[in-house]
Amino acid sequence: MKMIFKILGYTTGLLLLLIAGSLAYFHLNGIPEYEYAPPEAIKQLMAPKDSAHIARGAAIGAMHCVACHAGTDGKLVGKPLVDLPEMFGKLNSLNITQDSIHGIGAWTDGELYYFLRTGIHKDGSWSPPFMPKYNLMADEDLKSVIAWLRSNDSRLAPDQREYPPNQYNLLVKTLGNVLITPPPLPEQPILVPDVSNRVAYGKYVADGLSNCYICHSADMLKNDILVPERSAGYYGGGNALRTPEGKEIFSANLTMDPETGLGNWSRQEFIDAVRFGKKRSGGMVSQPMSPHSMLTDDEVSAIFDYLQTVPVIHNPGLKSQAGVRH
Ligand code: HEC
Ligand code: HEC
Repeated sequence: MKMIFKILGYTTGLLLLLIAGSLAYFHLNGIPEYEYAPPEAIKQLMAPKDSAHIARGAAIGAMHCVACHAGTDGKLVGKPLVDLPEMFGKLNSLNITQDSIHGIGAWTDGELYYFLRTGIHKDGSWSPPFMPKYNLMADEDLKSVIAWLRSNDSRLAPDQREYPPNQYNLLVKTLGNVLITPPPLPEQPILVPDVSNRVAYGKYVADGLSNCYICHSADMLKNDILVPERSAGYYGGGNALRTPEGKEIFSANLTMDPETGLGNWSRQEFIDAVRFGKKRSGGMVSQPMSPHSMLTDDEVSAIFDYLQTVPVIHNPGLKSQAGVRH
C-alpha cells in the first residue's frame, strides 16, 4: 500500500515538474515562429485595385477590421482590445495605415494576403488568436480587402501613432504553443458560391465572410476555424462575451430551436436584427454584436436559409433569442 502511495507521489511530482518545466519554457520562448513560405503566386500577387474591388473591400473592412483597428478618431492606428476577457491580459491591435514604418505601407500585397490567411508575418513571427485568420474567405474577397487597404480612404492615410509590440501573458503563450497553430493555406482556390445556391451561399456569408459562428457557438476556445461546423455547439449560442463596459453577455442561439433559438423568427425580423441591430424583443442589440448594415438584405437572407439546415440546439441556459441568461 505504502509503496503505491510513494510511486503515486513520485509520478505526480514528476508530472508537476514536467508541467512547470513546459510553462517555464513557454514563458521564456514565447509564441513559436513559423516559416514564411508563400507559394510563388502569392509572393507575386498584385490585387486588382479597381473601384468595385475597393468598394467590396471597404464593406468587408467595415465588418471586421474597423471594429478592432480604429482608434478614437476613426483612423486605423490600432487600439486596446477592451472587450477581451481579462485572462488574456491587455493587448492592442496595431497600426494598419499606409505609413511605411508604423503601418503596412511597406508590406507587399502578397505579404498581406499570406498574413490575413495565416497570421504569419514575413519575419516568421505569428500573431496569436486575437488577430483573426481569414482562412475561409474567398480569394476575390480577400483581394478586395487588400485593394481597400491601399485605397485613398482617409482612415488609412499614413499615420505615425503606434502601440508597442504586444506582450503576451503565460496563458496566451501556452495556448500559442499547445492549442492554437496557424491555419494552412487553402489547398484549392476559394470561390464565392453561386448566389442561386442559397444554402451554400448563405454558409459562405455566415462562416467564410462574416465569421458569425466564432461568437455564436458555445466557446471561443472550442471553435474549429478549419471546419466551423465542428465547433462546439455550432450556432447554439451561449458563448460568454463582454460588452465594451466589461459586462458579461451571452451570444444568441441562431439555430431553429423554437424556444431558445430562431425557430419562430420571420426572415424580416432576422434581417432587421442582423443588419440594423433591432432586437426582436425590443431595443437594440448590445456590443459586441454590431449591426451588419454592410451586408445586403440578400446576403443576410441567405444566412437565414443556411441556418434552417444547421442541426438544432436547445440551449435552455438562454432565454428566448435574448442573449440573456435566466
Ligand atoms: C478581433 C480584432 C481584430 C480584427 C477583427 C482584425 N484585427 Fe488585425 N490585428 C488585431 C490584433 C490584436 C493585432 C496584433 C496582433 C499581434 O500582437 O501580433 C492585429 C494585427 C494586424 C496586422 C499586423 C500589423 C503589424 O504591424 O504587425 C495587420 C496587417 C492586420 N491586423 C490587418 C487586419 C485587417 C486587414 C483586418 C480586417 C480584414 C483585421 N486586421 C481585423 C486585431 C484584429
Ligand atoms: C463579436 C461577436 C459576434 C459576432 C461576430 C456576431 N454576433 Fe450576433 N450576437 C452577439 C451577441 C453577444 C448577441 C447578444 C446581443 C444582445 O443580447 O443584445 C448577439 C445577438 C444576435 C442576434 C439576436 C438579436 C436579438 O434580437 O436578440 C442575432 C439574430 C445575431 N446575433 C445574428 C448574427 C449574425 C447573422 C452574425 C454574422 C453576420 C452575427 N450575429 C455576428 C455576438 C456576435
